[in-house]
Amino acid sequence: MPKVKTFYQCQSCGYTSPKWLGKCPDCGEWNTLVEERKETVSPRVSIPAHFRKAEPQLLSSIKAGNEQRTSTGIRELDRVLGDGVVTGSVILVGGDPGIGKSTLLLQALAGLSRYGQVLYVSGEESPEQIKIRAERLSIDSDEIILLSEISLRSILDTASKLTPKAIVIDSIQTVYTEELLSAPGSVSQVRECAAKLLVFAKRSDIPIFLVGHVTKEGAIAGPRVLEHIVDTVLYFEGNRGHSYRILRTVKNRFGSTNEIGVFEMSDSGLIEIENPSELFLLERPVNVSGSAVVAALEGTRPLMVEIQSLVSQTNFGMPRRTTIGVDFNRVNLLVAVLEKRAGLHLGGMDIFVNVVGGLRIIEPAVDLGIIATVASSLKDIPIDPKTFIFGEVGLSGEIRAITQAEVRIKEASKIGFKKAVMPQGNAVKIKNNLGLEIIGVKNVEDTLEAVLA
Ligand code: TYD
Ligand code: MG
Repeated sequence: MPKVKTFYQCQSCGYTSPKWLGKCPDCGEWNTLVEERKETVSPRVSIPAHFRKAEPQLLSSIKAGNEQRTSTGIRELDRVLGDGVVTGSVILVGGDPGIGKSTLLLQALAGLSRYGQVLYVSGEESPEQIKIRAERLSIDSDEIILLSEISLRSILDTASKLTPKAIVIDSIQTVYTEELLSAPGSVSQVRECAAKLLVFAKRSDIPIFLVGHVTKEGAIAGPRVLEHIVDTVLYFEGNRGHSYRILRTVKNRFGSTNEIGVFEMSDSGLIEIENPSELFLLERPVNVSGSAVVAALEGTRPLMVEIQSLVSQTNFGMPRRTTIGVDFNRVNLLVAVLEKRAGLHLGGMDIFVNVVGGLRIIEPAVDLGIIATVASSLKDIPIDPKTFIFGEVGLSGEIRAITQAEVRIKEASKIGFKKAVMPQGNAVKIKNNLGLEIIGVKNVEDTLEAVLA
């Protein structure tokens, strides 16, 4: 009889403790420690097949770039994966419930079914529910096999029999292995199952997509605990109120990170957006103060996005500052710079800053957009709709150069912009202006003069 040992494990970060604690000392989350049981049989270490019987070899003798990639038929998904799915890789797709993970992966499987049979394992929905979704998506491939199963052993049995071209496990939190006594969805179950699936994927060369729910409550182990096990981690993000969805690479052993794919959730599934800039600028108001277009960069992809600011007299003693899509502290800092360096009186003003379309921009190039729109709203002077801006603002009011200016102006000229306001440091290095009027600015005053003229 193996001895059963109990311990407490944080469902958020995986920290273990012999006794229960209200707050996890590792990640600081409250109420996340859950009792788990472990049999103390000799631990069996699972080693991926390609690590077995390893012989030492010369680095220079190893041929790289021979991994095989298959297209999912969805270009935006292929892009974030690094140009297609690598055989034998395990891809974790995380995201809030209801964001569209199951939809995306069913569409991806439909694309992959061109190459042969594919397997969709669902522990969350009945085959009828999946059929209804497939009908909505107009998928009627004869090569998609459904399996309603949550036992890892049965899933692996079926998978080894069918040897499909790809597998989707929806979701990893519902799968369990009998070898562990803890409940499905707990950290140890999720980790063990993912590790076993990884071994299976490497041995069989079958790519596996894992769906992972992100939960704040910590009742179900989040995808965070899996990030180091799998090859690729994608996060599906979006705003409930908007139909845009962004698929972001967080980790990729077979490609670059920080790539994004843009989709729109429609009545008949996810539609790829190849030209997100055009979409995000579709409903832009013209000749209204407080709006400007910033040439931002998401990974390697340029994105023209509209920044809006609204500055109004505060009705309470404390002026309010609200930001959506940009960093709150960054906005406070830029407001202080505007006060000190450009002499704008913003102390008694409520300030709201918003990135249109539910996007989130964290790169410093957005700084110039924020100060321009705040000043534009305060003075009620509209910014020319054919002008776009980008640049980082320093604390002494200087405008600092940012990376990849050429890529940004290329995108802007493609959509028909005429004038660029950018850091002087970038402007002097631009070789081909693509027919745009380029204005280099050195400090905040220069900038306001250039955009509010
Ligand atoms: P789903 O893929 O089930 O999300 P997840 O697996 O991440 O929980 O999709 C959920 C939402 O998407 C649901 O609220 C309905 C909506 N939806 C559409 O708007 N159009 C569609 O064609 C489909 C299939 C879903
Ligand atoms: Mg789902």
